[in-house]
Amino acid sequence: MILDVRDLRVAYGKQVVAHVPELRLEAGQVLGIAGESGSGKSQTALALMGLTRYSGGVVSGSIVLDGRDLTVLTHRQWREVRGREIAMILQSPRAALNPTMKLGSLFERTLKLHGVARADRRQRMEQSLSEVILDSAILDRYPHEVSGGQAQRFAIALVAALRVKVLIADEPTSALDVTVQSEVIEVLRGLRERHNTSIVFISHDLAVLSELADHLMVMRNGSVVEQGATEAVIHDSQQDYTRDLIAAVPSIRGRAL
Ligand SMILES: Nc1ncnc2c1ncn2[C@@H]1O[C@H](COP(=O)(O)OP(=O)(O)OP(=O)(O)O)[C@@H](O)[C@H]1O
Ligand SMILES: [Mg+2]
Repeated sequence: MILDVRDLRVAYGKQVVAHVPELRLEAGQVLGIAGESGSGKSQTALALMGLTRYSGGVVSGSIVLDGRDLTVLTHRQWREVRGREIAMILQSPRAALNPTMKLGSLFERTLKLHGVARADRRQRMEQSLSEVILDSAILDRYPHEVSGGQAQRFAIALVAALRVKVLIADEPTSALDVTVQSEVIEVLRGLRERHNTSIVFISHDLAVLSELADHLMVMRNGSVVEQGATEAVIHDSQQDYTRDLIAAVPSIRGRAL
């Protein structure tokens, strides 16, 4: 078990915006989280990254990553865990990249920050870029000089190079057009196959989720309404809400998974 979450709650004052009774992830597994806007998907992701405190959220419950309880970590310990053990990619990767820094310097600095020895960095960078099918010429560019799809693949290359155990991807393909979307999905699939990375993949789009996820969790109003193996949730959902979400994706109906 790489990630074992119990009774996770994120609250702002008295309002609980996300409650996840149980979330378990084995090494190399992909969990998809679906649900309408405002259902608590991103708040769950931020809690797993130890980031809700920065917006005033209070987290309770337990998050055990590879045998270590994260809920008791200090700020400093969290900073070490983020990027080294667990990382997150977002809808607009360019926004997360320092605009004044070439991608090569950014890559180098991130590896240094997370303890990759100088002698290993170049090789690690080149290997990771080839894994996401980017030419190393991209290292000489600034973030505004690459496309959205390239920026997302670059972000995934960073994650691959850091060898994190868990990647949280919050709507990583929503801002991309359909062909670029499937490239990013392919790259995530490669990440999981090569490095056995576990992935929590958040999306509105059940069709995208069902392509990649072994398990699905469906959220609504801050609660989990259904979870289980992807095939069972898609083909044999026990909840009207989930069936409505599936019905809203024409391409998924009747498709064999
Ligand atoms: N800083 C905050 N203070 C109070 N409530 C917040 C705060 N941030 C988020 N929320 C509330 O938490 C709830 C869940 O938000 P969240 O961002 O997790 O939704 P989501 O499922 O990711 O939606 P979307 O699909 O639109 O990204 C929302 O009702 C939101 O208003
Ligand atoms: Mg969100």
